[in-house]
Amino acid sequence: MKDLVSIKLDLKNTIVPMLWLCLLATAVESAEPLSKNSQVGTSEASPKAPAINWDAYPESTALPELLKLQNGSPVKSPEDWMKRRRPELQELIQREMFGYLPAPQPFTATVTKTVPDALAGKATLKEISLKFTQLPPEAPEIRLALWIPNRHPAGKIPVFLTLNYCGNANVTTDPHTTIHTDRFCSKKEWIGQRGGQADFWCVEQVIDRGYALATYHESDTKADKNEWNDGLFPYLKSDQVPAGSQPATIALWAWGLLRCVDQLAQEPQLDPRRICLLGHSRRGKTVLFAAAMDERIALVVPHQSGTGGMALSRENNQETVERINRVFPHWFCGEFKKFGGNEPRIPFDQHAVASLVAPRLLLDTEGDQDAWANFPRSLETLQAVNPVWKLLGKTGLVGSGLITSVTEIQPGKVGELLQLRLPEKHTLTKEFWTGILNYADLMLPE
Ligand code: GCU
Repeated sequence: MKDLVSIKLDLKNTIVPMLWLCLLATAVESAEPLSKNSQVGTSEASPKAPAINWDAYPESTALPELLKLQNGSPVKSPEDWMKRRRPELQELIQREMFGYLPAPQPFTATVTKTVPDALAGKATLKEISLKFTQLPPEAPEIRLALWIPNRHPAGKIPVFLTLNYCGNANVTTDPHTTIHTDRFCSKKEWIGQRGGQADFWCVEQVIDRGYALATYHESDTKADKNEWNDGLFPYLKSDQVPAGSQPATIALWAWGLLRCVDQLAQEPQLDPRRICLLGHSRRGKTVLFAAAMDERIALVVPHQSGTGGMALSRENNQETVERINRVFPHWFCGEFKKFGGNEPRIPFDQHAVASLVAPRLLLDTEGDQDAWANFPRSLETLQAVNPVWKLLGKTGLVGSGLITSVTEIQPGKVGELLQLRLPEKHTLTKEFWTGILNYADLMLPE
């Protein structure tokens, strides 16, 4: 069956238009105008580019204060935070790190496939194509796969949304998911293969617990490579945005997730108040940024997100800002390159990104054998943002905020901020999902 749904975008919750105005007013001096050859993710300065004005980036080995406005005034009330400090920080992290999140785009959502007995009868699979009506017809669509449990408690169903690496069919061995081979995936053996990451996404486990699961392939919005002619970037870049602050790959992936949220929030069976985002590693950095930018996300799980995610950049003794920018120049915007080796000059740190999730739920999941994602520095991030949750009247951390077993997820023992650290490597497992689902059961709104 094919049905066509027109999407009315709810702009109430998006601060994007305001940010674009701020952007015009505050573009940094070092930014070049966008030229045809500008490379978003690279630091290649044009011969005419002015030198970086380091006076604008004073050194601070201490973490920049969260509860102080840029004009020096203290942030004293929830209103000060939500209306003044939060927009300032959103502006800063976009301009200097991720690039500006493009404004939402209207789309039509076409259900291209419905399978009422997917996953051996446990779920209804809906494949939905999001086609952007104001972009040129050749602009790629986002292909969202959504599994909704057929058995679930009465009422609307909570949903986990994820970003996948090599196509929706890779997420489960279920034979019904459509295989697409026309998008980029660096792991060639997974292209066109079913279920390559089935043990990772554990779709049946999520469904059995009464949650829906939704996913899209990152290459619908931007391939994971330092090239800028694919995906939606060519259609979403804007001449109004300085080259150094154009949205880079992580911002484009996040933008795609938020368009999926536009759609999930309209799905009659799903609960728009219980939309959860989960991403692993580079995709963990992505979901953290998406949740920082959009209050519709009730729970974010930046799984093993590391540098550029939950781990602090200052004195990071694992992956440095210089290294991440050099090896993955396309993840963050051009402005972020100047901070490699100059971390004390970053006018924020990753605690600022995490703080923007307040007062919602932030579950940081880590593996204690993952010696690259820097779980101790991620726990420090949780501790550094705790005063923001407190200011907003929440519990924030309980104790140090660290638990090391899923059985510790009990009423009164965990708050809105938590690190669940399991004896694992750099991967996602059933046990992690058990912890994540236990936490969601306990902490999501009724
Ligand atoms: C690399 C990178 C990390 C990233 C990881 C991943 O290891 O250095 O920053 O998180 O890839 O995405 O798996």
